[in-house]
Amino acid sequence: MGLSVNRTAIESIDAREILDNRLEPTLRVTVRTEGGAIGRADVPRGRSRGVHEAVDLRDGGDRYRGMGVRTAVENVEERIEPELRGHSVTDQAGIDSRLRELDGTADGSNLGGNTLTGVSLATLKAGANAHDLPVYRYLGGPAATELPIPLVDLIEGGELGASGLPFQEHQIIPTGAESFEEAIRMCAEVYYELGDRLTESHGEYALSVGDEGGYTPETMTDPRDAFDSMLGAIEACGYDDVFELGIDAAATHFYDSDERTYQLSDKKYTRGGMLDYYADLVDTYPLVSIEDPLEEDDFEGFSTLSERLDAQIVGDDLFVTNAERLRKGIDAGAGDALLCKINQVGTVSEAIDAVETARGDGYAIQVSERSGQTADTWLAEVAVGFRASQIKTGTTRSERTEQYNRLLEIEDECGGGYAAWPR
Ligand code: PGA
Ligand code: ZN
Repeated sequence: MGLSVNRTAIESIDAREILDNRLEPTLRVTVRTEGGAIGRADVPRGRSRGVHEAVDLRDGGDRYRGMGVRTAVENVEERIEPELRGHSVTDQAGIDSRLRELDGTADGSNLGGNTLTGVSLATLKAGANAHDLPVYRYLGGPAATELPIPLVDLIEGGELGASGLPFQEHQIIPTGAESFEEAIRMCAEVYYELGDRLTESHGEYALSVGDEGGYTPETMTDPRDAFDSMLGAIEACGYDDVFELGIDAAATHFYDSDERTYQLSDKKYTRGGMLDYYADLVDTYPLVSIEDPLEEDDFEGFSTLSERLDAQIVGDDLFVTNAERLRKGIDAGAGDALLCKINQVGTVSEAIDAVETARGDGYAIQVSERSGQTADTWLAEVAVGFRASQIKTGTTRSERTEQYNRLLEIEDECGGGYAAWPR
């Protein structure tokens, strides 16, 4: 039973410049159909970006220190809307490939990767709205009933937190929870407990939070210190059997490509040194997920690590949600999980390509926020709709907690189960 054409045909596409959680400009796109369906989506923005990501188009000049998105707004309204008017929002693949054609570049640099993401996501939401379905159901069909395991970034370092820690995220993972609701409650209780403990051990400024809402103890420099603090809080809550640990090392950002070394606090490591370092962490701690352990082009190193360690190795800057790079990784045995960020690649359909490639080869799927985002909750919808077993969307701050709030609603709506951790 199809919907009548005029209900789903695009009537207008509007864009505006809005602000994200860092008070930096980003794009909001609204798609309306002739039948009155509407889809509005905000585009996220990373700070710790990979070089292989789609280009994020910014105006330059003085306004907002060059970060304005008026060119992207113009691109939506003057170059994209006239081409897409009349197309059905339910033809996501057709619209996404038309967007790609109009852009004409591999990296989205003509119209802007952010422009493509905004129009593509707003189309997705308008399609769901035209069908009177929530986005997760429209995207994933009746099989989309499972809630993902959250990887919650309790202590931040690297590019996103003003602590002395070299790794970007130190995560707790409630792999042993029974439901999403229980998982989030337990994460919150560990977060409170950790706050008390960090105040004692590192002073009250440790409670300042980073871009993803995790603590930033300024004087903490050793990842082991972060793990010990988190495990202490977990134990104090009586949740030893529920939690395991993860990191996003984001290693590209402490890699020196001339010297081919990694700078960890005051020591330099070769690739081999880093491999030993991670092996030792996995031996010592219940560390089950390591994202971007090595720089963004080291397929070989990722492959060695995947073979050597039991922990899941996640490719973020390595794969950039790009099915081709993921295929290269799969052929090389690099990594065990895809980090999925739609704006890394451009459109929803390209992200679906990467997700299906991952699923086909037994890679886990972890849907991820960006450090710059808004309270738009498409991320929560997409995580369930893509049937991802994992989500990372930070800790505190409303642009993070709104994702959790939406996931709690979805859990109620679909009587959803809770994903299993891949073993
Ligand atoms: P970003 O960081 O959103 O700033 O790129 C998140 C990550 O590296 O996973
Ligand atoms: Zn990352």
